[in-house]
Amino acid sequence: MSSRPSTTSALGAIGNTPCVELTHVVPPDSARVFMKLESLNPTGSYKDRMAQSVIEEAERRGDLQPGMTVVEATGGSTGSSLAFVCAVKGYAFRVVSSDAFAPEKLNTMTAFGADLDIVPSGSGKITPRLIPAMRERARQIAAQGAGYYYVDQFSNPDVFPGYETLGREVLAQIPGEIDAFCGAIGGAGMVMGAGRTLKQRWPGCRVAVLEPASAPALTKGYGGEHSVEGIGIGFPPPLLNRDWYDEARAIDEAEGRAMCRRLAREEGLLVGTSSGLNVVAALQLAKEVGPGRTVVTVGCDTGLKYVRGDLFTQS
Ligand SMILES: Cc1ncc(COP(=O)(O)O)c(C=O)c1O
Repeated sequence: MSSRPSTTSALGAIGNTPCVELTHVVPPDSARVFMKLESLNPTGSYKDRMAQSVIEEAERRGDLQPGMTVVEATGGSTGSSLAFVCAVKGYAFRVVSSDAFAPEKLNTMTAFGADLDIVPSGSGKITPRLIPAMRERARQIAAQGAGYYYVDQFSNPDVFPGYETLGREVLAQIPGEIDAFCGAIGGAGMVMGAGRTLKQRWPGCRVAVLEPASAPALTKGYGGEHSVEGIGIGFPPPLLNRDWYDEARAIDEAEGRAMCRRLAREEGLLVGTSSGLNVVAALQLAKEVGPGRTVVTVGCDTGLKYVRGDLFTQS
């Protein structure tokens, strides 16, 4: 029997997530499709990996020191992860978020002791103006003095080490060639970090970045409203590097939501909305690359964060 060794802090519970083959939602005449189950990280999303790497890289450089306050603008997943890492390490955390995001995420941040600042969305939707307004508020807070460390996840390359680890785990879990990898992007840290790691091992691996079809900033050059938390931020994120992906795809939000329900009922996998979009795209790629090939995607976060909303109750 192999089990994880005991650890000296909850940070040791980050990563080493399972990679599960989807056996019911994948049609015949397709490649095999695997989903890396990132919902099993301590706060239920892959953002725990990046929160640990941004904080520890800043500590290593001396930019973040004991007694300082960490500041970030976030839809809630990054905020929950940063609040968790700051709690373990003893940093105060000021977080700017919005009522467009799940109350579970906002409450998780405060449960870990974060100080929450809400920018009202107006419509309850993620609009092209919302994320820039949240970032501006975070910048104002951080500008108050030297005691603040602004994470700025959208332009901070310190996110990459955490996601490179995710990529290396996939390579260890899937020994054969990986033909395609896809993921919906917000700041793009996950697909850029993990995708590049897969491409270094398997140069033919087709990496696809995904966005909601109603907010096609990458595929059509303009933003729009949608309700897929964590992605489709309204502009091409600074960390998105054209050399590290092969294509951008717009995925219908309703199809992604329906896929979340199928994943729960047919595969026993309870994941959030962006993960539904990831699997819709993975199935498209699996059809395109064909039988005998392998496609990998990621279950970004747990569906438990969305059970109070309508994600699992729509038919
Ligand atoms: C649920 C969820 N899915 C996907 C993403 C996108 O990840 P990334 O910012 O690494 O592109 C995020 C980011 O916040 C998220 O919260």
